[in-house]
Amino acid sequence: TTTNATKPMSALIGHRGLPSQAPENTAASLKAAFEQGIDWIEVDVTMAGDGSLVILHDADLRRFGQPDRTLVSLDRAALLQVDAGGWFHAEFAGEPILFMTQLLTLVRRYRLGLNLELKINPDLAMPEQVDAVIEALRPAALDPSKLVVSSFDHRALTRLRQRWPEVAIGILFGALPVDLPAVLIALKPVSIHCDQALLTAPLAAKIVPLYPLYCYTVNDSVTLATLLSWGVSGVFSDRAGAEELRQVVLDR
Ligand code: G3P
Ligand code: MG
Repeated sequence: TTTNATKPMSALIGHRGLPSQAPENTAASLKAAFEQGIDWIEVDVTMAGDGSLVILHDADLRRFGQPDRTLVSLDRAALLQVDAGGWFHAEFAGEPILFMTQLLTLVRRYRLGLNLELKINPDLAMPEQVDAVIEALRPAALDPSKLVVSSFDHRALTRLRQRWPEVAIGILFGALPVDLPAVLIALKPVSIHCDQALLTAPLAAKIVPLYPLYCYTVNDSVTLATLLSWGVSGVFSDRAGAEELRQVVLDR
């Protein structure tokens, strides 16, 4: 068990990069985060039909205005044609979907801490997706103190731990459980992540003495101040560079 004295990530983590300024989960979003001095980002990784790993929140292209196209039906060549930016703003039209290999290059370039969230594509088998992420991530040899891998899929995290004993794991929840099940304690997580809207002071008080706790998605200073007062270590924010949020962290 870790203690709350060891905080694996910063207090303000760029949720999907900086999606208040640029289309989420893209190179443009990482660049915007870097330019605002954000030092940790969270992005979602999932798998396409040909086994390509892409930085995408969903298993379809609905977000880009193409509701009938599922990720499982697409390969790398098709994905390279997708406009992942025009839906956000005309300025970003033609921004491509980011592939896992490109993500790792950008994370190094900008010296970002990376919370990689595994979004298991329900249209594909889980074990292959976990193994592909390990195969891409492990040889990249990122600074281990600047990498946390998380997922809502706790079976996927169990496989990840079996195959990669040293990797830093964060366990994602919607609502926090009152007690962490033994199978999850056995994963030796470095952090616990949960939905701020479902968190209460008593639930936070049970976890905080045992593990650093991080909450998604927090965009305003009042909520941030409340969570920090409950002992929360940090938050995923769509506007992690905002001055008023930084001030709350400094005043803590
Ligand atoms: O990893 C924190 C947060 O990103 C989880 O929710 O739906 O934004 O991926 P979601
Ligand atoms: Mg996410």
